[in-house]
Amino acid sequence: MSAPKKLFIKTYGCQMNVYDSERMGEALASEGYVATDSADDADMILLNTCHIREKAAEKVYSELGRFRPLKEANPDLKIGVAGCVAQAEGAEIMARQPMVDLVVGPQSYHRLPELEAKARAGEKALDTEFPEEDKFDHLAKRPKAARGPTAFLTVQEGCDKFCAFCVVPYTRGAEVSRPAERIMGEARDLVERGVREITLLGQNVNAYHGHEGGLAGLIRELAAVDGLERIRFTTSHPNDMDDALIAAHGEVEKLMPYLHLPVQSGSDRVLKAMNRKHTAEEYIRLIERIRVARPDILLSGDFIVGFPGETDADFEDTMALVHEVGYGQAYSFKYSPRPGTPAAERSHVEEDVKDARLQRLQGLLSQQQRAAQDAMVGREVKVLFEKPGRFAGQMVGKSEYLHAVHVQTSRIRIGEIQPVRIQGSNSNSLSGVI
Ligand code: 5AD
Ligand code: SF4
Repeated sequence: MSAPKKLFIKTYGCQMNVYDSERMGEALASEGYVATDSADDADMILLNTCHIREKAAEKVYSELGRFRPLKEANPDLKIGVAGCVAQAEGAEIMARQPMVDLVVGPQSYHRLPELEAKARAGEKALDTEFPEEDKFDHLAKRPKAARGPTAFLTVQEGCDKFCAFCVVPYTRGAEVSRPAERIMGEARDLVERGVREITLLGQNVNAYHGHEGGLAGLIRELAAVDGLERIRFTTSHPNDMDDALIAAHGEVEKLMPYLHLPVQSGSDRVLKAMNRKHTAEEYIRLIERIRVARPDILLSGDFIVGFPGETDADFEDTMALVHEVGYGQAYSFKYSPRPGTPAAERSHVEEDVKDARLQRLQGLLSQQQRAAQDAMVGREVKVLFEKPGRFAGQMVGKSEYLHAVHVQTSRIRIGEIQPVRIQGSNSNSLSGVI
């Protein structure tokens, strides 16, 4: 038997890419590939890329440049680009970086073995179609190996919302939900292999309709799986937070009290220009209803500053919304024009104005994040332990609220859930005792 070929996958961007990279690794395992942590000894390098903001795509091109010496030293090395940059730029990637052998978009990962064979035969392999068949049916079933206590599971992909700034509807395509029975099968399989927490993934996950009860119905069915202790989902659009899902936050114990619900802006004018289809007030009322169902829920969000046409007054509305909602965690970005999106055609806010707004918003958000973390001191949380810490005898896990928690202990095993009394709050994590 020939020696296994080595596969190096580098993943950029969102959690769905992390999930996709796992599945690509599995698809190529059936072609004789084993994973390696280093590009230097790889027979194949795959970049799983992100197109959501400018810098992400530029990083891919500079990363490809760094692989040139490897390719020159080893002409048998195959280099592939997957993910949303592959989908958006397609053949142009090969034109710009001729050393790329393979380009594959997110809807075609099940065709990777064929594409790999083509690349091995010395041809350029490109697939950025949106095929009719369900890629999840064709992707190799996850092998039965044991795995860590947390896992991602894609339940829906693509988006029909067409926010004016966003490439997702173009790179990931129209919204498609996977049937609930497939998801349940995959979830049971993960649990058998040691997974205790599953994060359901989708670009617009709360629009999920593969279960007659929607996402809430799926969550309730998953909650009945013995051995599965925690359920999370990300990422959601405010307009798809229906009553059933809000109620689930109050009623389903295994559904964790953490919700990522991006609003992007606090200005009605900007929200309208963004095509978000709701007002700031409607978002705030929604948050109130969610907090009635689950008072301790920790909220997370995404914000864009400097969207075309955003004035100082609009930005102040965003600051006011952040003050009013109070986030435990949030991401904020400078608007970046994406080719092919409606907002890219409009006149842009000056870069230094964007910088100044971003700095102020991030200042406020990190204050809130720190306050939410500090408020945990003295409380008892339940921690799912995921790995040893950096120091001897230390274990690290996540609380219900997704805070990283460090504990000094020799008694805990990976995968256990234990009550921890929080004693300290550091810049990015908590510490406590069992
Ligand atoms: N510019 C800046 N941020 C963006 N996002 C999406 N598209 C853009 C863009 N063109 C942000 C949004 C989204 C998150 C995943 O990325 O805040 O919620
Ligand atoms: Fe992009 Fe999310 Fe808007 Fe869909 S809902 S277009 S993924 S920002």
